[in-house]
Amino acid sequence: MGIEQANTTLTPLLRYVIDQAMRVLHTADEIAEKVAELGDRISLAYQSSEVFIIGVLKGGFMFMSDLVRRINLPVKIDFVRLSSYGNADSPMGDVMIVDDIHEAIAGKHVLIVDDIMDTGKSLLTFKKHLLEKGPASVKICTMIDKTQRREASISPDYYGFRINEGFVVGYGLDFAENYRALPQLYILDAEDRRNLL
Ligand code: IMP
Ligand code: MG
Repeated sequence: MGIEQANTTLTPLLRYVIDQAMRVLHTADEIAEKVAELGDRISLAYQSSEVFIIGVLKGGFMFMSDLVRRINLPVKIDFVRLSSYGNADSPMGDVMIVDDIHEAIAGKHVLIVDDIMDTGKSLLTFKKHLLEKGPASVKICTMIDKTQRREASISPDYYGFRINEGFVVGYGLDFAENYRALPQLYILDAEDRRNLL
């Protein structure tokens, strides 16, 4: 599906940015196919057990809402907000849990759903935090696994697409809070990124 069909209310400025500064990484159709495939794999893996699915806001919101509709298991959902502060001296490294889960997860199977794993620091920090609450298991599913800048020894248990490098926007992912609502995944050109700020 082209952007024209997928999103008919683009402003001229947004249309211009998309045309000039972005290239399509994956179309809405490719994303839907991948999400269905992930849903099938996850449904099989948990063998009818209930899964507590935790979406990471804001980037994971669109992937989360599509994925849960493709998972054929009893699920409960919650959302958290994580935030990075460039402060390596803070107790959690440089990642803060701004809004934590609101239910007990002891004995439960937990699946964290996020937009992208980059350095891996935020999801490693959050996973460690959840493990202290005594869940039966904690697994991670991200739409994108971006490998080149990985610092933490972690990788997603499930991922939609793997890339080496590049800055991704659309389908929940932002650049300076823009472009989250775009229905496709785009690579935003590095030079254009500077011009857009
Ligand atoms: P981490 O480096 O794996 O801890 O990722 C931290 C967060 O950085 C992710 O959850 C995203 O919100 C953001 N991020 C990393 N790479 C990208 C990207 O290519 N596009 C948009 N956001 C990104
Ligand atoms: Mg994020």
